[in-house]
Amino acid sequence: MPRRRLFVTTALPYANGSFHIGHIMEYIQADIWVRFQRLQGHEVHFVGADDAHGAPIMLKAEAEGLTPRELVARIAAERPRYLQGFHISFDNWHSTDSPENVELSQDIYRRLRAAGLITTRRIEQFYDPVKGMFLADRYIKGECPKCGAREQYGDACENCSSVYSATELRNPYSTLSGAAPVLRSSEHHFFRLSDPECKRFLKQWLEQPGRLQPQVVNKAKEWLEGSGDRALADWDISRDPPYFGIRIPDLAEEKYLYVWLDAPIGYLASLKNYCARKGLDFERLLADPTEQIHFIGKDIIYFHTLFWPAMLKFAGAPYRVPDQVFVHGFITVSGDKMSKSRGTGISPLRYLELGMNPEWLRYYIAAKLNANVEDLDFNPADFIARVNADLVGKYVNIASRAARFVHQYFGGRLTGRISLAADGTGTLDIAQSVRADFEAREFGQAIRKVMHYADLVNKFFDSAAPWDLVKAGTPASLKLAHQVCSTCIHSFRDLTVYLKPILPELARGAEAFLGDGPLSWESLRHELPEGAAIARYQHLMTRVGEKQLDLLFDVSSVPQAAAPQRHAERQQHAAKEHAVGESISIDDFNRLDLRVARIARAERVEGADKLLKLTLDLGDATRTVFAGIKSSYAPEQLEGRLAVVVANLEPRKMKFGVSEGMVLAASGEGAGIFLVSADAGAQPGMRVK
Ligand code: MSP
Ligand code: ZN
Repeated sequence: MPRRRLFVTTALPYANGSFHIGHIMEYIQADIWVRFQRLQGHEVHFVGADDAHGAPIMLKAEAEGLTPRELVARIAAERPRYLQGFHISFDNWHSTDSPENVELSQDIYRRLRAAGLITTRRIEQFYDPVKGMFLADRYIKGECPKCGAREQYGDACENCSSVYSATELRNPYSTLSGAAPVLRSSEHHFFRLSDPECKRFLKQWLEQPGRLQPQVVNKAKEWLEGSGDRALADWDISRDPPYFGIRIPDLAEEKYLYVWLDAPIGYLASLKNYCARKGLDFERLLADPTEQIHFIGKDIIYFHTLFWPAMLKFAGAPYRVPDQVFVHGFITVSGDKMSKSRGTGISPLRYLELGMNPEWLRYYIAAKLNANVEDLDFNPADFIARVNADLVGKYVNIASRAARFVHQYFGGRLTGRISLAADGTGTLDIAQSVRADFEAREFGQAIRKVMHYADLVNKFFDSAAPWDLVKAGTPASLKLAHQVCSTCIHSFRDLTVYLKPILPELARGAEAFLGDGPLSWESLRHELPEGAAIARYQHLMTRVGEKQLDLLFDVSSVPQAAAPQRHAERQQHAAKEHAVGESISIDDFNRLDLRVARIARAERVEGADKLLKLTLDLGDATRTVFAGIKSSYAPEQLEGRLAVVVANLEPRKMKFGVSEGMVLAASGEGAGIFLVSADAGAQPGMRVK
């Protein structure tokens, strides 16, 4: 097979939050495919990046008293831990907030403009006069124009499901400031997606055989071929300031590219950054015969099968349209959907911190993946069963039992291989079909074949009963025992090749044991020579314990990752044992200087959505503290109240000033923040112990 050159990406995660299990699942899928291609000897360039721009990130940073860049940097700093932790083999990780992306995005914009595909027109939109910005629908609430339900968002009613535009809401208000929005007009730039030439190109791109999964083609064609008010509309690609993004070039006025325009260009920016690091020629690398392949989730099909190929096509060379877009479904946990903001009951970081083996998760996810756009359920009992029964019980077991005999009776050396079954099956037979499965992302099917093979090997070992053969002790029985155990080791080596894309670390251990250097698909063509020495078996993988899963789902010490409702019972059970964090000594506790404080003044902070500025009276001192309690308290309610403050917390510099402590408050899964107070009679400055 000719050597392929592949440029592979995964969707760029929003940089306003940590990775959740959905991201990790996507990376595991892509990484297995990439590692498989590398084992075939192909050249792969696998890159990711943070999706840093857009209004939500800007607003979140503001609420935390940070600049967007500071927030993005904080999140970026966490990334390597997860990626290394789960053995994701990206060649590069970059950011859309980078010089490369500015250059490429502005270049693509200019080329689209030159191609006559950008138009401008004025549109009217809601504007928040207090906040001084235009409001996307998700920042507007009001009463549903159809049924009158209150607190409905600016695009659709959750009560009666009617769809409308924000301007139809009754008594609308901005969720950012509470102000009534006003209509304002501004000039916007549009990408002419509805241009007949553009539509013609997309139709042909979508229909190219082998490019997209059939479900994805259907979905995209529905959008492409819609008519009436479902017709494909031109795409609004500009945003007015304030916006965290890339400036529209060659324009006197300050306008920005909409984040979804610069985000996919971030794939190229990351590649370009990687090329510079490696001394490679970016444009040459991008050119034919490179295949450009994107792994994405089902929620962003629209952007990757309409906007993105159209942008690339009409920008022209050296840009090229994606060769394939591989779409996966969503991961659920015991049947529960994960919320984008809260994640699921499984925190990937906690998984690693508990010392759980990342390859258990890689294996489990692989075992459940196929090439369809289907959701995948993480089921704890199933997880334990697959890892323990298949991976440890079948595969690893072969090496451990066979190696014992090889060392005890045969000096750690192998004979050639004999047939596994009377009918002569069981050597290279599955290599072709497992390869086809990996290529087609039918990982579950590949694993079923591999485990079937492992079953065969174990049965062969059991029925040959080498323990009886060595006991019999005749030259013939000893020879057979030696051949049987050697054959198991040869087969174990085959199995390791098949599993290597999924279990890279385990494979390294197995390679050390086999003593034959790094395995690749090529290794299947020859076997270990007669007389080859193997190392003593050292355990390759332990079993998962049920207790570890209990700990994984115990959210009492993970405030961010609230667990799905249905786990409530399991958690309560787990919570009894692990309700609180690890014990600390009284000395540890005494290091906290907790004081009673009187809230002398409470004020709103200009530009902050969540914060109130509190002036605290601590008896002999006054402190300024910014507290994130605005959603639950009006300043008037607070003045004069007693609170409890951590008085010896390092002062923290925030956008709005320095915060000199922290007031204690309770919060849970639901809405509401509840200040901790001291009973009447307590005096400011008293120590709380
Ligand atoms: N920033 C955009 C993508 C820009 S690509 C140029 C985005 N970010 S995201 O963080 O919300 O999602 C990143 C990827 O994670 C997407 O492919 C998305 O489908 C995937 N997933 C998000 N939740 C998921 C699950 N629960 N399960 C599997 N994948 C999920 O969208
Ligand atoms: Zn309604």
